[in-house]
Amino acid sequence: MSSQPKRYTVTAALPYANGPVHIGHLAGVYLPADIYVRYLRAQNRDVKFICGSDEHGVPITIRAQKEGVTPQQVVDKYHQIIGDSFRDFHVSFDVYSRTSSPTHAEVSSNFFLKLYNDGKFIEQTTQQLYDEQAHQFLADRYVVGTCPNCGNENAYGDQCERCGTSLSPTELINPRSMLSGNTPVLRETKHWFLPLNEYESWLREWIIEGHKNDWKTNVYGQCKSWIDQGLHPRAVTRDLDWGVPVPLPDAKGKVLYVWFDAPIGYISATKEAFPEQWEKYWQDPDTKLVHFIGKDNIVFHCIIFPVMLKAHGDYILPDNVPANEFLNLEGDKISTSRNWAVWLHEYLQDFPGQADVLRYVLCANAPETKDNDFTWKDFQARNNNELVATLGNFVNRAAVLTQKFFDSQVPARGELQAIDEEVFAQVAEFPGRVGELIENYRFREALGEVMNLARLGNKYLADTQPWHLIKTDAARTGTVLHVALQVAAALVPLLTPFLPESAQKLADMLNFAPGDWQSAGRAEQLPAGHQLREPALLFAKIDDAVVNTQVQKLLDTKKANALAAAPVTAAKENVSFDEFGKMDLRVGTIVAAEKVAKTKKLLKLTIDTGLDQRTIVSGIAEAFIPEALLGQQCLVLLNLAPREIKGIQSQGMLLLAENADGSLALMQPGSAVRNGSSVL
Ligand code: MF3
Ligand code: ZN
Repeated sequence: MSSQPKRYTVTAALPYANGPVHIGHLAGVYLPADIYVRYLRAQNRDVKFICGSDEHGVPITIRAQKEGVTPQQVVDKYHQIIGDSFRDFHVSFDVYSRTSSPTHAEVSSNFFLKLYNDGKFIEQTTQQLYDEQAHQFLADRYVVGTCPNCGNENAYGDQCERCGTSLSPTELINPRSMLSGNTPVLRETKHWFLPLNEYESWLREWIIEGHKNDWKTNVYGQCKSWIDQGLHPRAVTRDLDWGVPVPLPDAKGKVLYVWFDAPIGYISATKEAFPEQWEKYWQDPDTKLVHFIGKDNIVFHCIIFPVMLKAHGDYILPDNVPANEFLNLEGDKISTSRNWAVWLHEYLQDFPGQADVLRYVLCANAPETKDNDFTWKDFQARNNNELVATLGNFVNRAAVLTQKFFDSQVPARGELQAIDEEVFAQVAEFPGRVGELIENYRFREALGEVMNLARLGNKYLADTQPWHLIKTDAARTGTVLHVALQVAAALVPLLTPFLPESAQKLADMLNFAPGDWQSAGRAEQLPAGHQLREPALLFAKIDDAVVNTQVQKLLDTKKANALAAAPVTAAKENVSFDEFGKMDLRVGTIVAAEKVAKTKKLLKLTIDTGLDQRTIVSGIAEAFIPEALLGQQCLVLLNLAPREIKGIQSQGMLLLAENADGSLALMQPGSAVRNGSSVL
């Protein structure tokens, strides 16, 4: 689309409602989409920003099974958490819907029916994997096995996460059911397929010829390699009980494939929120459709969904699909299952009122052309050195000096000197330059430019030194602050897409309502005599202690993961019942505990065994402080032959469980038991 479109439909990938949103999602999808949309609104363009929760699919049902709840409970929980956290992160969706909504069931069923009635599907009975114990077909992630491409033994039925190949369950070598662990059998079942192969030449023309120059190279490259490898019919239905039912009489127990229904969710969400106008946002060729996604979504948004739209016939196609690469965390791939993530809802709790700091760091470090790494050190440094020291410092100095010297009124400007003219000339360039970068989806460079405007302001103050100038030339000082305040005002519209909360704070401080995007370039936004409000700090320094807490949280996660992965030691040889019966195991209570002098590990315990009070020496001093043990019940092996340890007679042994990391837990009865009771 070369001339300016009449309107924009901007979508952000519908997040799976099987877990909260993390910084990888934000950096890859939601933040760039929000910046783009806020920019378009500042340009007074007509735009709708569409998103919602993706509530179908196997990831949801697997999660439900793990947590022992229903799929509906899973999606209700995460839809709420995700929606709230997006709102608090100031992601400005026009609608945040969900694919379990009645409108969506209707829109996606009708979409399917139109394709069905127009003969766009192939109906085919094939052999699919079936779990005879669970009485269920094993779609997508319900089956794992060895990847035929790279040998990864834990590839999923729909994709190998190691090599990225997309798979179908029957391609897996040595498949195992996720439900029972059993080897599945093959069973016949009927499904509907979208013959992607029939659209190959159209896709070549549309993408390979048509979007060679405007789609990002990573996106274009993936599409080209998909098409070059040859396209095949893809099933758009599944044997599952969670999803939109296939709207045909002979399709009991079948639902639409989640990747068929979810993208239609963009359309249903628009229809739900704008029942009178939704059609023009999806069907008028003067509308520019842009999908923001992560790189794992490329084929679905560039090939499969466009083929669906094309086959339907009433819809426009995406003009661009700006997919980002991945963000890593402290050098490791972000992973929901390994809990290796910075979760948005937790960040918002730990850093109240500081959504913009995270927005800044994620945009400045966005994985636009390659994978990038988020570290807490970098987060702290960017906040302290860039937001506080550059941006905050500039606007604060301009406002504080104006308060001090001119009672917070914008001073009149006298004759302009070359240095002032130069500043105005440069400011005028910014809206166009930043805007062009945003329109080309280069958000991190765009943010860099906005920061350059703050740097320009800082340099201007450093060059003119109003804090010295005031002693000799009040009128010239007035002109300098007048110019500096115009730069501060220019920052408001330009910052808004990136840091909406801080831009609003700055606007409040300057006591003005910013105009549109272009207004940032005009010299006289704040007229002489205009009253400013009390200066306030836009950003605060973040201390080492604060980021150290976050790093510690990640270290704890690492440790928990290592523990979970550590192998359990092998079983010992059998003993006879008689041998076991010789052991006199009893419940006792610890009535005294003290460290054994000159040892690191030993505690001297006095145990009330019901029979007597006896001394036991135990190597647990590094795991427990003595006071914590007093009054605790414990299990004791009474008839272990007494031994002398460090000159103390130890009469028996305390029973403990040892964790894989060497940490210890006291073995105790699950409820209070009389001392001396036997353990059988
Ligand atoms: N839920 C998918 C994911 O998180 C994205 C779905 S995008 C949609 O990867 F287009 F299908 F909605
Ligand atoms: Zn693989």
